[in-house]
Amino acid sequence: MEVQVETIKPAIGAVVRCDKEAFLTEEFAERCLELLEQHTALVFPQLGLTDEEQLAFTDMLGDRVNFTGTVPGGDEAAQDVYTITLDKNVNTEPEYVLGSMFWHADGICSDIPPPKATLLSCFNPPNKGGQTEFCSTYAAWEALPEEEKAELEGLRVMHSVTAAVREVLPPDQINPSRRYMRHEHPLVWTHRNGRKSLLLGCHADYVIGMPLAQSRALLARLHEWAAQPDFSCRHTWQKGDFAIWDNTGALHRALPYSDDSGRRMHRTTVAGYEEIA
Ligand code: OGA
Ligand code: MN
Repeated sequence: MEVQVETIKPAIGAVVRCDKEAFLTEEFAERCLELLEQHTALVFPQLGLTDEEQLAFTDMLGDRVNFTGTVPGGDEAAQDVYTITLDKNVNTEPEYVLGSMFWHADGICSDIPPPKATLLSCFNPPNKGGQTEFCSTYAAWEALPEEEKAELEGLRVMHSVTAAVREVLPPDQINPSRRYMRHEHPLVWTHRNGRKSLLLGCHADYVIGMPLAQSRALLARLHEWAAQPDFSCRHTWQKGDFAIWDNTGALHRALPYSDDSGRRMHRTTVAGYEEIA
């Protein structure tokens, strides 16, 4: 079977149709990185990867990382595969998963370079809600008026876990090992290849040196801008679907779903090699 690529929107998203045999090759892994550069988020309907196959593909793209550990009660056998579920029988610490319902990028508050790509397989689709949305922070930057670009360039933002889970947990209930994780980053990320993106997400707490209200209002407005329909797309999951996105040029979020929705996703992560600069 040939690989078929269908653009979802010019700014973000492509549906890739291929079978597993074509997918699990070094040749396709290379092509996949090019497609990622071009489309930022890729969805593969009905690919039906096993954990082992997903890990093998992850390894073809780069070094794997597991910066969140495994879900309490999750599948210990599946090393470096993170189970995303709100099922109380599986996940006894659901805050991190609940936090994924707000626009974010993965791994922004830790001290390692942010992951290059996130890979997600659907093992059980939710009975309701639980689609995943992606928005391009490259497109969001590129489309800003020049005057605004000049105002934003040079601003720095504090990112923290406390901010990331603000909608989910009061600060004193955050696991102490994460409560103080924070990192300052430039608002405008100039990538090594010359592209620029806006670094946003619910973990973006405030703009350094700006009054709190004005700085949060600015971040809120930039989130609305980045999430506008022209720069974003949505995937409705079916069992066996797979998606991969460029974590350095996109935000993502899950639409709300309930604890008993049945939703179960398996995630792997490719390490980043680029400091945010
Ligand atoms: C994640 C995440 C989105 C989803 O695992 O990092 O944000 O739709 N997942 O489950
Ligand atoms: Mn995420």
